[in-house]
Amino acid sequence: MTEGPLLAHTREELSGLLADARISGRQVGLVPTMGALHEGHASLLRVARERVTDGPVVVSIFVNPLQFGPHEDLDRYPRTFEADLEICAREGADVVFAPAVEEVYPGWPAQPQVTIEPGPLASVLEGRTRPGHFRGVLIVVAKLFGLVRPDLAVFGEKDYQQLVLVRRMVDDLCLGVEVVGGETQREPDGLALSSRNRYLDEEQRREAVVLSGALRAAQQDAVRGADAAIGAARAALRTSHGVDLDYLVVRAPDLGDLPSDPPPGTEARVLVAAKLGSTRLIDNMPLTLGRRP
Ligand code: PAF
Repeated sequence: MTEGPLLAHTREELSGLLADARISGRQVGLVPTMGALHEGHASLLRVARERVTDGPVVVSIFVNPLQFGPHEDLDRYPRTFEADLEICAREGADVVFAPAVEEVYPGWPAQPQVTIEPGPLASVLEGRTRPGHFRGVLIVVAKLFGLVRPDLAVFGEKDYQQLVLVRRMVDDLCLGVEVVGGETQREPDGLALSSRNRYLDEEQRREAVVLSGALRAAQQDAVRGADAAIGAARAALRTSHGVDLDYLVVRAPDLGDLPSDPPPGTEARVLVAAKLGSTRLIDNMPLTLGRRP
């Protein structure tokens, strides 16, 4: 039988569980999550487990209210704590930190007075339809970094803009945490794993595959440049009626603009967001411009 991870609900319990590792100078790894764990999270845990060989891997499970807009799915966000613990045990997590909201935001619903200004990247792409989202993400990630004090933290590439912004925060604020990106995990038909996939009905689930199909089409046509890649992805998306496209863009890997005439071999990222019914899905893939994938 797999021994389960140790549970901490409070800051004190967490620092008690990590005291030994700190005193003996062992590494600490962190996988921040909002629970509802699936194979995508499991793969992030495996990355952390592989990288942190001599110290504890902490998984945080906290549905962060600050990153949800007023009309978003905070109340119906899936909560599957017992099943989450099983995945954590199976993947060799040592500590699960599952705080109550007041533990993270003392005085809640009062919000922290000192916050993080995520800069211009937070108001484009996801940030355009979700104002305040990345500010909420960066506040909680900064808090988790302060509470866990990890050497290394693993974030999924699925939320690519989040990953770029967390890296940016760590660099700009000299937080000294190594941020590792974990590859997106997919269903056999290509749909990126997401806790929100469970909101899709049968027909939407069938249609959702068009997103990853469009990104793959972009990868194929990137040999002819970024515009051709976008054209191929758009053509693929047009084959579906149920998909309400929000954005489809090709950007530099740091989500900045591409050079106007990128030389062959330039690395880029294609990103898509769309709604199926009321469920918003995002996905992204790497591209190499001017070269076959
Ligand atoms: O990616 C997520 O699950 C969340 O945005 C994170 C990083 C755990 C912060 O709440």
